Amino acid sequence: MLNTNQSVVVAGGGGFIGGHLVADLLRKGFKKVRCVDVKPVEKWYQVHKEADNIVADLNLLDECRRTVKGTDVVINLACNMGGMGFIENNKGLCMISVLINTHLLMAARELGNQRFFYASSACVYNGDKQKDKSTSVFLKEEDAYPALPEDGYGWEKLFSERMCRHFREDYKINTRVARFHNVYGPSGTFEGGREKAPAAMCRKVIEAKLTGKHEIEIWGDGQQTRSFMYVDDCLKGIYKITESDTWWDPINLGSSEGVTINQLASVVEDIAGVKLKRNYNLDAPKGVNGRNSDNALIQKVFGWEPDTKLRDGMEKTYKWIYDQMAPRYAGGKKPAMAMAGAH
Ligand code: NAD
Ligand code: GDD
Repeated sequence: MLNTNQSVVVAGGGGFIGGHLVADLLRKGFKKVRCVDVKPVEKWYQVHKEADNIVADLNLLDECRRTVKGTDVVINLACNMGGMGFIENNKGLCMISVLINTHLLMAARELGNQRFFYASSACVYNGDKQKDKSTSVFLKEEDAYPALPEDGYGWEKLFSERMCRHFREDYKINTRVARFHNVYGPSGTFEGGREKAPAAMCRKVIEAKLTGKHEIEIWGDGQQTRSFMYVDDCLKGIYKITESDTWWDPINLGSSEGVTINQLASVVEDIAGVKLKRNYNLDAPKGVNGRNSDNALIQKVFGWEPDTKLRDGMEKTYKWIYDQMAPRYAGGKKPAMAMAGAH
């Protein structure tokens, strides 16, 4: 079990999930929380003054040594990534993140770190298993092999998972790996090119509502399927998997509430109280046709699975994005969108 006297470092703590995790660790009473990110602190989604906040490029081994030094637990959430619009167009950049996990593992080995969590992704799964547009494309852990992951990003994740396994077997680093399925919630990316479908849908519906536009663009035909995990469930899963002394192989961490992208759009419209014309962009990045999280293993090992209902999580997400966007429209002008810079 993690205990509050342990020193925990959250790599990628300036990002969406990392910001929530640092907040939660501090809330739980952890006194030594280090938060590391390559972005300048003013660009972090959440800044917690009680944490030891460090700006460092974790592609570099020396910066990983500085990051890991004196800590008991590493939670590696650092990665140059985004939604489909980003990962389909930045395969090289996504793959460079292999340096982050590799150098963090090397530093953990040198410095005798006790436990190491790695955030992998549903993008490691074999593409041939995700050809159907159906909410019952349940991916089991063994479906990652034979390997045919998402090009670029998925290969990086699969390789890094494997690296965790071999550092555990050969060097006795206590690695744990979760395969996150599309995570959403407040205080995350909703514009600029890295946003994922839940936040993008909120942004588009809010923009339509605030400008009286009455229409939105949806990438693909809207029949593709996904499951979306609320960020609080993601944190619960990170703790359970990191703490586990009975399971160390990669394990799904995702909701099994599958929906089509059209259904996701309807949930957001319903929350917003609008009904919009949908323009389908068939040339936009689409990714796989269908995927859902098979949760038999996480249920068996932990007697739990992510269970926040999509509608409940989306209400909180919508509200946060609305609060960010509404002031910009107060003067009736369309805002300039922040651009997603490649790190
Ligand atoms: P995020 O982009 O909000 O956070 C990642 C953070 O890593 C960013 O703040 C970024 O600046 C930082 N980073 C990138 N390169 C770095 C470097 N060289 N050195 C230090 N920091 C660096 O993403 P997130 O949604 O919080 O995702 C966290 C982790 O979970 C990532 O590994 C991601 O691949 C994985 N994941 C996320 C999802 C999801 O839907 N959010 C799904 C599957 C897997
Ligand atoms: N991003 C986005 N923006 N997607 C849209 C939009 C939009 O405006 N409209 C429709 N979509 C569709 C995409 O075309 C895709 O078919 C689906 O919604 C889901 O897109 P994303 O949320 O961007 O990504 P994903 O689910 O394919 O993959 C994400 O989740 C993985 C884990 O499950 C990515 O964030 C990966 O990086 C992540 O590992």
